[in-house]
Amino acid sequence: MTEHITSSQEAITLEDKYGAHNYHPLPVVLAKGEGIFLWDVEGKKYYDFLSAYSAVNQGHCHPRILNALQEQAQKLTLTSRAFHNDVLGPYEKFITELFGYDKVLPMNTGVEGGETAVKLCRKWAYTVKGVPDNQAKIIFVNGNFWGRTLAAISSSTDPQSKGGFGPYMPGYELIPYNDYAALEQALEDPNVAGFMVEPIQGEAGVVVPDEGYLKKAYELCKKKNVLFIADEVQTGIARTGKLFACQHEGFRPDILILGKALSGGVMPVSAILADDEVMLSIKPGEHGSTFGGNPLACAVAMAALQVVEDEKLSENAEALGQVFRQRMQQLVEKSDLVTLVRGKGLLNAIVINDSEDSDTAWNICMQLKENGLLAKPTHGNIIRFAPPLVITEEQLHACCDIIDSTIMNYAVS
Ligand SMILES: Cc1ncc(COP(=O)(O)O)c(C=O)c1O
Repeated sequence: MTEHITSSQEAITLEDKYGAHNYHPLPVVLAKGEGIFLWDVEGKKYYDFLSAYSAVNQGHCHPRILNALQEQAQKLTLTSRAFHNDVLGPYEKFITELFGYDKVLPMNTGVEGGETAVKLCRKWAYTVKGVPDNQAKIIFVNGNFWGRTLAAISSSTDPQSKGGFGPYMPGYELIPYNDYAALEQALEDPNVAGFMVEPIQGEAGVVVPDEGYLKKAYELCKKKNVLFIADEVQTGIARTGKLFACQHEGFRPDILILGKALSGGVMPVSAILADDEVMLSIKPGEHGSTFGGNPLACAVAMAALQVVEDEKLSENAEALGQVFRQRMQQLVEKSDLVTLVRGKGLLNAIVINDSEDSDTAWNICMQLKENGLLAKPTHGNIIRFAPPLVITEEQLHACCDIIDSTIMNYAVS
């Protein structure tokens, strides 16, 4: 029997008593979503300015995606890859043509996408590049975040994510982000197989590298026969104003990792894309997942990507991102509390004039919640703003008004 929740407090109490304490959510209990809006149990309406960490780019409960889900759910949901299914092939053709790659490998969560990329890169290193057995090295950058598995946290520089979970995965090396010279030095080692990087670091606080860094890094990787692996789980699917963020610098990574909004937030769907020379390094039986490539996920992902194209979400993110940063820049100029706004498209953050371990960003988010807008700090002094990409200019201005008045009132209180 499921309990019928009638108050937010009741739901929070249940989670606290029966759920693991591995999260510290903002105290709001959501019961309904539609487009850019969310409603809590008491019926209060909010603007969503997190989009489930950029998984709901197409807006909550998009009717076309739900329709695809329902239609497919009534026919066939899961076969495993022991057999073929009649949606996987069409999905693979669709996504590879859209992104411009020879092949796709479908998985479920974002972290599995990253794990798959690392495995594929190692396999390629041994079977194509000729790195001696067990010597392959992957270069990561400080501040990276690609999930919570042991492989992922082994590359982490965040003590909270990593501490107390050792021993860690060998074969990794960390260098500073946005530091071309450090990459040049790291790639002197002939056993380096790959360089894995987020084009904009999401969880680190929407950290945007210098213009040209990614392209130069990609060209260096080409020269050194190293795979450039772009973790676009958060930046991909139109979030930054392009279908994937590397397009801003006009190049195509050797391995592209997608997740989150690949399903419009309906279910966990991730994928990596690569060309044959790389992707065919993995042979039957060497990698897989019971749910990866299931017909339900394939139908949902096709609909979710079609919505991105038909509703021109990249173009909307690009145009409204400019508007948002202009509005926030005005706030930087008039408020002592906000020191900086940064981002691309509709992946942005403001930096608060306080220390990283302060609770100012949290307190501002609590106030924003009271004022009808949901956002979450990424650090004590950084708030990320990432609304669904279906937001209109008028709605965006209304949200900027809320942020503006919350910050201005916070500053004087
Ligand atoms: C850049 C990036 N990669 C990977 C992941 C992991 O995705 P998931 O939580 O679906 O495993 C995240 C999640 O926030 C992310 O931001």
